[in-house]
Amino acid sequence: MQKTFNFSPGPAMLPAEVIEQIRADLPEWHWHGVGQGASVMEVSHRGKAFEELIAEAEADLRELLAIPANYKVIFMQGGAWGQFAAVPMNLLRADETADYLVSGGWSKSASVEAAKFGAVNVLASSESSGYTGVPVKNDWKSTSAINKRSAHINNGIALSSYTYVCSNETVYGNEIHSLPGDLPSPLVVDASSHFLSRSMDVAACGLIYAGAQKNIGPAGVTIVIVREDLLDRAPKNIPSVFHYKHMAAHGSLFNTPPVFAIYATALTLKWIKAQGGLAEMERRAIERSTMLYDAIDASPLFTAPVAIADRSRMNVVFDSGNPAIDTEFVKFCEARGLMSLRGHRVRGGMRASIYNAMPLTGVEALVAAMREFKPT
Ligand SMILES: Cc1ncc(COP(=O)(O)O)c(C=O)c1O
Repeated sequence: MQKTFNFSPGPAMLPAEVIEQIRADLPEWHWHGVGQGASVMEVSHRGKAFEELIAEAEADLRELLAIPANYKVIFMQGGAWGQFAAVPMNLLRADETADYLVSGGWSKSASVEAAKFGAVNVLASSESSGYTGVPVKNDWKSTSAINKRSAHINNGIALSSYTYVCSNETVYGNEIHSLPGDLPSPLVVDASSHFLSRSMDVAACGLIYAGAQKNIGPAGVTIVIVREDLLDRAPKNIPSVFHYKHMAAHGSLFNTPPVFAIYATALTLKWIKAQGGLAEMERRAIERSTMLYDAIDASPLFTAPVAIADRSRMNVVFDSGNPAIDTEFVKFCEARGLMSLRGHRVRGGMRASIYNAMPLTGVEALVAAMREFKPT
């Protein structure tokens, strides 16, 4: 029986069945029943078994997300921070601007990183309200309205290379539940902390990326899904390992990939399929998060600061309003096996990360702790 529940924001909990399979495979990896004579960490990434594994992982991902044929799937390294740089390196044209929606610390960091490579326009930011919501589209300031930089080459209208959003802000706990449409440029989405917790309209996006370590695997691999027509934008002088077209052309096997992370991610993709796919992941995410937000809203002690329409189903942020009581509650929970509930250091309070692998019983245990806790 499970003794503790891990509410860590990432690296985060993996399904028990996946951990069990990893344990069984550790001394010797069996690929479709055939022993490979070594663990998955010790076999060549150029061997037939690993090449089949990565192809199968891609096929499973394509099936789960219904990825159209004109999109490439790339398994990369460098984490989401790597993508903060790779996106502008590949997509930001020298005479254009990149539009960033800043709805939390991650999209802010991404916009600052992108500014190292070219012109950035912040469409809107919810920083002044403590990121308790996602700025509404009516309030966005588009590149063409404010940027004069390329006015001379585009008849007075500055062009946007891409529009960037973080669809789930892990630290502040807000989520974009419906991706923006009718944009002047391809939509780029950092979906790291809710990837595969719901279906996504891939065709509405130019590029989606996600670090694995929240919902789909261990740290070390970052999945990039990119529309083929965007691959030709990259200048020649960017690093090969961050060059989407180059990496895609090599089937993500240009250099040594993070074999263990890809293997564990592949197992998680199979687990998601076996559970009923993204419809079932979404049903569970709604069930878990509704139970938790209902308990917070009914609590005389705790409040959830994020606007109801923007509340994340994955990262539930809440506070008592008194840091000493927050610390006491976190300790009270730890004593009951409810781990890693302390909020991110930049905002404090509590954060319960309830990704795909979190069973409903974990949320029930947390709700019971909230009800029973009496501050001293
Ligand atoms: C939404 C989001 N984007 C980016 C990052 C940065 O990821 P990494 O540390 O893998 O570079 C995180 C990490 O927690 C995140 O939650």
